[in-house]
Amino acid sequence: MSSSRRSELIERARAAFQERFGPEPEAVGVAPGRVELLGNHTDYNEGFVLTAAIDRGIAIAGCPSEAPRARVASTDKPNTVTFDPSAPQKGDAESDWADYVKGVVDQLNKAGANVGGFDAVLTSDVPMGAGVSSSAALLVSTAQFLLTLYPNLLSLDAMALAKLARRAENEFVGAPVGLLDQFSSVFGREGHALFLDCRSLQWRAVALPTSKARILIADSGVKHALAAGGGYAERRAQCEAGAAWFRENVDKGVKTLRDVTPTMLEENAPRLDPILEKRARHIVYENVRVEMGAAALESGNVAAFGEMMSNTHESIRRFFENSAPEVDALVEIAQGHDGVFGAKLSGGGWGGAAVILHRPDVTESLSAALNEGYRARYGRDPLLIETEAAQGAEALRSA
Ligand code: GLA
Repeated sequence: MSSSRRSELIERARAAFQERFGPEPEAVGVAPGRVELLGNHTDYNEGFVLTAAIDRGIAIAGCPSEAPRARVASTDKPNTVTFDPSAPQKGDAESDWADYVKGVVDQLNKAGANVGGFDAVLTSDVPMGAGVSSSAALLVSTAQFLLTLYPNLLSLDAMALAKLARRAENEFVGAPVGLLDQFSSVFGREGHALFLDCRSLQWRAVALPTSKARILIADSGVKHALAAGGGYAERRAQCEAGAAWFRENVDKGVKTLRDVTPTMLEENAPRLDPILEKRARHIVYENVRVEMGAAALESGNVAAFGEMMSNTHESIRRFFENSAPEVDALVEIAQGHDGVFGAKLSGGGWGGAAVILHRPDVTESLSAALNEGYRARYGRDPLLIETEAAQGAEALRSA
């Protein structure tokens, strides 16, 4: 996140904590949301992603408490959620926003650190449910906050922190997501995209040519749910079934769709169940696009990169079928606009946001076209977020 936005967010969290609980907070954790540039649904298939942390996030500030209970408030919510940190339980509809905090506490306990009582207030400038992973921002900022508040609790390197945050979302919240969001929020680097191999967890930063290309996020306002039982979990299961088919019928060494090459796919496509074939087709070629996209960026070819983004969206629409008409409309409007390199869905799907890579001189006219075109079709404006690739999470101790 840009340092001024970040300082403002931290200050807001600190002031809100004092207002709500009295003392100066002792620790603050701050973490950004993310935008997925390429690599849609490849993460849990152990494939490749190209992602960036964005200029918006969540800050959570607080103090330890003598009492063996946790109290968490949010500047956006009317209620304070109180729970026993030694045995966190999921909240009802009014307090489920705090499940991400509880999930991190739960995972820290499972890792052998007994989290003590604390009071905390969080504040956000990342829109919720908008496909920019406010959830990862909350998980990662909470982990940073607690590990700073209780420095002897546990020592985790950055990747272990991202993995712990993912487990909190998988096991406590119940969303079977991959590592993309939490990784981006932890590792974000200003001015850079991050290329991650979700199998080896090796990664590298790839410079974004900010003078030539800017990122605009257009949120459709259609809420997506990643919880068990939804489309996301269904896609995951289909990918696993596809990999199992290749393992049984083609090559015993196939563990996930990451191991299926384009040639293997083309040779066997007619024998494969048509739905599984479509899902596999998206994943197999998406992995190719991520590698090619990273190489295009590294050689300064923004146009080729943008084309890859648009090809991804086409594959999402035709083969993975996880978009929504509203997101398709935003992508289509963007693609028709002068100076746009490419556009695609970012994130899980069934709503959420489009990410649009464009020339800096057209941001204004593009925004106007998106507002106008979307309003004409859906009677409301999309939420537009101009963002820069930003720095990942951090924590501060202040007393
Ligand atoms: C959501 C999940 C990620 C990833 C994307 C799709 O954001 O949280 O793990 O699967 O969808 O690429």
